[in-house]
Amino acid sequence: MTVFLASLFLPKTIYFSLPEAPPRISRKSVRPSNPGASKRPSLNLRPSLFTPHPQNTPPLTPTDDETAIDDDLFLNEDGLPVHDAEYRAPADKESPSWGGRIFQPTSRANSPPPASILEHDKTFEKAKELGRQGIFQPRASRSDSHDKVFANANWRVVNADQGNGGLRNAAEAAARDGYDGEFTWVGTLGMPADALEGTQQKQDIHDRLVTEFNMLPVFCSDKDFDGHYLHFCKQILWPVFHYQIPDNPKSKAYEDHSWKFYVNLNRAFADKIVKNWKRGDTIWIHDYHLLLVPGMIREKLPEAKIGLFLHVAFPSSEVFRCLAVRKQLLEGMLGANLIGFQIAEYTRHFLQTCSRLLSVETTSEGIQLEDRFVNVTNTAIGIDPVSLNTHRQDPEVMKWVEIMRDRYKDKKIIVARDKLDLVRGVRQKLLAFELFLNKNPSWRDKIVLIQVALSTSEKSDGLDAAVGDIVARINSAWANLAYQPVVYLKQDIPYSQYLALLTIADALMITSQREGMNLTSHEFIVCQDGAYCDRKHGSLILSEFTGTSSLFGGKELSVNPWSYRQCSDAIKQAIEMSDEERSSRWSSLREVVSRQTGSRWFTSFLSQLDQSYDVQHSHDQISIPRLNLNRLAKQYRQCERRLFLLDYEGTLISYEAMRDSVPSNPHRTLAVLNDLVYDSRNTVFIMSARRTDELDRLFRLVPNLGLIAENGCFIKYPSKSSWNEFADRRKVAAWKESVRNTLQYYLERTPGSEIEDRNCSLIFHYKNAEDFTMAERQASDWTAHINESCEEQHVHATQLEDCVVVESHDWTKDTAATHIYEQLKENSDGQPDFLMVVGDGREDEKVFRWANKLQEDGEVKEAVTVTLSGRNTEAKTTLTQAISGVLVTLQKLASLS
Ligand SMILES: *[C@@H]1O[C@H](CO)[C@@H](O)[C@H](O)[C@H]1NC(C)=O
Ligand SMILES: *[C@@H]1O[C@H](CO)[C@@H](O)[C@H](O)[C@H]1NC(C)=O
Ligand SMILES: *[C@@H]1O[C@H](CO)[C@@H](O)[C@H](O)[C@H]1NC(C)=O
Ligand SMILES: *[C@@H]1O[C@H](CO)[C@@H](O)[C@H](O)[C@H]1NC(C)=O
Repeated sequence: MTVFLASLFLPKTIYFSLPEAPPRISRKSVRPSNPGASKRPSLNLRPSLFTPHPQNTPPLTPTDDETAIDDDLFLNEDGLPVHDAEYRAPADKESPSWGGRIFQPTSRANSPPPASILEHDKTFEKAKELGRQGIFQPRASRSDSHDKVFANANWRVVNADQGNGGLRNAAEAAARDGYDGEFTWVGTLGMPADALEGTQQKQDIHDRLVTEFNMLPVFCSDKDFDGHYLHFCKQILWPVFHYQIPDNPKSKAYEDHSWKFYVNLNRAFADKIVKNWKRGDTIWIHDYHLLLVPGMIREKLPEAKIGLFLHVAFPSSEVFRCLAVRKQLLEGMLGANLIGFQIAEYTRHFLQTCSRLLSVETTSEGIQLEDRFVNVTNTAIGIDPVSLNTHRQDPEVMKWVEIMRDRYKDKKIIVARDKLDLVRGVRQKLLAFELFLNKNPSWRDKIVLIQVALSTSEKSDGLDAAVGDIVARINSAWANLAYQPVVYLKQDIPYSQYLALLTIADALMITSQREGMNLTSHEFIVCQDGAYCDRKHGSLILSEFTGTSSLFGGKELSVNPWSYRQCSDAIKQAIEMSDEERSSRWSSLREVVSRQTGSRWFTSFLSQLDQSYDVQHSHDQISIPRLNLNRLAKQYRQCERRLFLLDYEGTLISYEAMRDSVPSNPHRTLAVLNDLVYDSRNTVFIMSARRTDELDRLFRLVPNLGLIAENGCFIKYPSKSSWNEFADRRKVAAWKESVRNTLQYYLERTPGSEIEDRNCSLIFHYKNAEDFTMAERQASDWTAHINESCEEQHVHATQLEDCVVVESHDWTKDTAATHIYEQLKENSDGQPDFLMVVGDGREDEKVFRWANKLQEDGEVKEAVTVTLSGRNTEAKTTLTQAISGVLVTLQKLASLS
């Protein structure tokens, strides 16, 4: 049995070795050429996906650009333009030494977006900007010879440097730590593949990855890939998930345009998995690139075990609902059996979003759909300290630790490495640092901020220039010949230098405005153990808006990146705190990091997936047996005190009959009930949402019947003439008062609707609304609203087919059932030994659960729970012939007496 790990990028990709340089593809390099670049032989000139090949251009005349001052210390040996290094993974060790220059084909996607959407200036600007960065390549720049070159080139499989490094490390660590499942990776090669279309090479690459590496490559057209990744994921989804609402309506065009590519790529993944799936396999989908895949697989494989983990944040429902395709995305996700999030906050946002946008019932454990339950969980990913420690022993790292320790021996060092986009808060960080220097003259000269900034393809609205200006301003104010307060590197540094930086730092500063789970801080904590450097136990300054901060329990220096003063104070605190405090904070953090490792995350998610799947399937209608009449008769005969709890609507009377304003009870139902209560060993209660007076009227011909009205607010014992009221009238009056005002407001705005005032609930009927569709849509919005605002009063609102019911959940069918059961126990006749519950609605599930529990606990001898509905349920048996089936069954029991 296999675990399919589906993630946008496979851990491997292909390098081609070309006999000669391929046709020149781009006009300029992504980042300014480095003045020092030619000092070192440049090896791995590995072009990244959709960014131009860095050409080996002659060094430019060095400029006096202040950002370049210290560049050569952190020279990028690999020449890697980093575009999507969401997680810093060690580069492929072997690749640079491989002979020749290495290439991948360029994209044939026909970007930029079609002219029709360019009518919006902003979008056009965006497209032009991307064009300038070399991301969109005009068709003319490619030639057939380019493709032929690849068809004949030598190639080989190497480690990919893009993609989800955290996931890869976790999977490897889990395998090492003894997880015994077999993994099959599913993903794209992260390189344009149109050029290989129809070649033998493509087939060979596919076969080799499958047989040798157990990886299923997903091929899709360059156009789909571009549209999916660069447009939909990077321009729409990622920003929204990080609280950057696309500036409507301009980016609306963008969203519409790129959505189909997102669907196509997701479809390609789903098809690939469906084709290779075998019974018993597990499917685990990763991250926001593939949100539709669970739903697409579920359609084809209703039985599949599917998990989904979202590595990024999940935003508040207010932000998520700005997406035009919000429903499709949610429904795609809900194809899974278990959906995992990094922290509880994201899980909560997701549940709230589902309940608001899809009007589904949610619990803290998941979402109840019509026919399935979907579990949710929060389990934070972590790092693999074992392999990190191996990398730390690399002589290269040691060398850099030496160099930097020497260079900064009498300075405090704050380090940071960020993508240069609006979300990471680089600007705020620099301003805070400036404020710190202004406020603390004694530290000038003694503290250095080393900021590594990675280029990004997202539009940055002049952020780049703004950051450059701030750096210049700080440096010109406080630098001298021997001192430069900010070392600003606009490029990535090799992994060894990165580890060295984390080792010698006195503090790491992360001021992201939003971030799912940041593992950089985990790595920093491990690197600060003092094993290779006498600087140790440094402080972590961490934005409270990161997922990580909720794990560390306040042992980090938590900051609000919007408050410069607070950030500046945190810097001061970080470098001035006593050694004892620093050590004790560090130890607590180290403890968290060692506990929450990637390996543990990996195995724990998979075992939760197994568990959820099993529980869900044990409630599956298909796996629940039909009610066995013979067996039931036997149980019935053996018992002396029998209690029946029978739902009314949908169980004893059809919903159609109920639609009439005065439902008439068919004689048959009354006759059967009469027969049943004729036996004095039987106590029968009808459970209903109706009012007391309605039930009185409906069942006046069966005086020995017990009645439960308004879903549990009122109980009438058999042969009694008065009702017991359970709800506290004062409390009810109080919440009704506030809810009624709200409902009144909607009533006035929904012509044709009406409010029904029951003793324990308020019902807003919009069945006859003039504009039903409109009323229905608005109702789902404000239902959630009432629901949330009344939570404290234990009141909840539920939207049904054509009405909204607002009622207290202090009094429900199961509280009524409990009450009745306790009463009977105290009666001289003794406690019931036979319990039968029949129902078909969600409300009845709680009664099933209650009854099953009584039997499990040995309180009653026989508990028979029967559902008529086709969805998944807590009931132990089903009855498929609906109402007539119930009547036949009860009739048969009555005849046994
Ligand atoms: C109402 O709130 C409860 C929790 O208080 C939640 O379980 C339920 O899903 C919510 N329903 C809607 C429609 O928002
Ligand atoms: C974590 O934060 C660092 C620094 O802010 C950033 O460079 C890195 O990309 C982040 N990692 C992830 C997984 O987002
Ligand atoms: C999934 O939900 C069910 C029903 O609420 C619960 O019994 C089960 O423990 C949950 N599974 C996990 C892994 O949380
Ligand atoms: C419920 O409310 C009605 C009026 O709305 C009232 O006549 C009745 O007495 C109340 N109590 C019961 C038990 O129905």
